[in-house]
Amino acid sequence: MALEMILSRDKPIGIFDSGIGGLTVLKEIQRELPLEDLIYLGDTARVPYGTRSPETVTRYSFENTGFLVSHGIKLLVVACNTASSISLEAIKAAFSVPVIGVIEPGARAAVRATRNKRIGVIGTEATIKSGSYQRAIRAINSGVRTITTPCPLFVPLVEEGWLNEEVTYLVAKKYLSHLIEEDIDTLVLGCTHYPLLKIPIERVMGDGMTLIDSAVETATVVRNVLDEKGLLRVENKDPCTRFFVTDSPEKFAAVGERFLGKRIDNIHKIELA
Ligand code: DGL
Repeated sequence: MALEMILSRDKPIGIFDSGIGGLTVLKEIQRELPLEDLIYLGDTARVPYGTRSPETVTRYSFENTGFLVSHGIKLLVVACNTASSISLEAIKAAFSVPVIGVIEPGARAAVRATRNKRIGVIGTEATIKSGSYQRAIRAINSGVRTITTPCPLFVPLVEEGWLNEEVTYLVAKKYLSHLIEEDIDTLVLGCTHYPLLKIPIERVMGDGMTLIDSAVETATVVRNVLDEKGLLRVENKDPCTRFFVTDSPEKFAAVGERFLGKRIDNIHKIELA
């Protein structure tokens, strides 16, 4: 095996999100690839991305990518659905590192899961407006109908820690009722935060609805791509995850622990150019 490949194998995987939500993706990557070193960048000073213009999301995404690439990552995961929806192709064109987004893996899993060929997709306003999931689903199977709806209040509810409160259930009911009328059998949780709302979402959607968590699917794709490129780590005595944030590390640690289900150390505050 070429020396260059062996050296590259030991480099970290970079992951960025608009803030804390991408920890749901990091968690699945840690579970799938426990030997890998990870660097996570949460742009907590500028979250949310989901309400911003495509130009702004792309500018932020480039700055995040530039930071992670400067740390010598071997692969980039764009954990943020909004950034993946809007900026993935531009990032791929501008940087030479392999890049994986969360839209395609989620779309693929949804098409696999649906039996009646009717898929619902929920996400931020920017994700839904971009039409990214609809395009990805159509490209995989043009016979599948996609019904989308933005759920902007879900992100602040999760950040507030109201995962299973009555108010969250009522908001979910308001957003999701028409998806039930549309007779979907599969629902894509197209936002980093939504996997934490599985309980109220399941309560509204009822039994028999398949929920697709893009984070799980993305971790599988990361493994496959690294494997294909001969970049999977085969040993690591001390796997390390470093966190970088653009705002308060204390707030990130407090809310992030809810996402990861464990203590978060090794958080550094940075300024992005
Ligand atoms: N990370 C974003 C996403 O997955 C949700 C939060 C935001 O709006 O920035 O779309």
